[in-house]
Amino acid sequence: MLHKLNFWKNRKPNSSEQVYTIDTIKKNPIPEHIAIIMDGNGRWAQKRALPRIAGHHEGTKVVRKITKLANSLGVKVLTLYAFSTENWKRPKSEVDYLMKLPEEFLQTFLPELIKENVQVRVMGMKDSLPEHTFRAVQNAINKTSDNDGMILNFALNYGSRNEIVQAVNSIIADQKSGILKEEEVTEDIFSTYLMTQELSDPDLLIRTSGVVRLSNFMLWQLSYAEFWFTETLWPDFSEQHFLEAIDEFQKRARRFGGV
Ligand code: FPP
Repeated sequence: MLHKLNFWKNRKPNSSEQVYTIDTIKKNPIPEHIAIIMDGNGRWAQKRALPRIAGHHEGTKVVRKITKLANSLGVKVLTLYAFSTENWKRPKSEVDYLMKLPEEFLQTFLPELIKENVQVRVMGMKDSLPEHTFRAVQNAINKTSDNDGMILNFALNYGSRNEIVQAVNSIIADQKSGILKEEEVTEDIFSTYLMTQELSDPDLLIRTSGVVRLSNFMLWQLSYAEFWFTETLWPDFSEQHFLEAIDEFQKRARRFGGV
């Protein structure tokens, strides 16, 4: 009952009062790959006179909720922007907390992810993560590597420009060593050098908190994605918002540059 009350209290409809259900959403094509910029944790906390990290803690619960829902809808890949290469500029105490979040999340949620056949992946500069963060995510990657269900892809210490420059450097190195011929660089080959590697490009990008920008997130991969923005802060983001975003996606005509 309490859960139900909170659900309605937290619900902030984006554009309509319509209630979406999994069954009706499933009647139309579900985006294969959904990417989310989870924004607004700090403001959520500040509005409640709480420290910013309380917002990140609350945001982790939403990650769990939305992962479960995406999996049950049959989404193939869910990419979540958890920490950008620019986020190191935040106060040390906040960065330290953000680097503990994967452990906190995986400590309680990993058994559920394993059971639900989810594969955990991480894209970003893993080598410069603190040892404890790296260990936690690597453990989750290993323990879910035999799963073949939804890919839960955390963008952690990720920046798209950095990713593209790294790809270019790897291509140059492979050309020098003869692994790759100069004339072989096509869009498809280039894509395999990105951190998303064999993953399909996102079909739908969601950003919360009323901010309307990409913030160095998947610049190449989002070329043809549908964008959906909401004023709702990430800790208030509900299952209804997620279904509403997919409903809007299903109504859009994707032309990929055609007519
Ligand atoms: C942006 O909000 C959010 C982040 C930088 C962190 C996002 C991380 C989570 C939601 C939790 C991740 C969970 C796992 C399992 C790794 P902000 O702090 O910039 O908000 P503001 O714009 O209101 O300040």
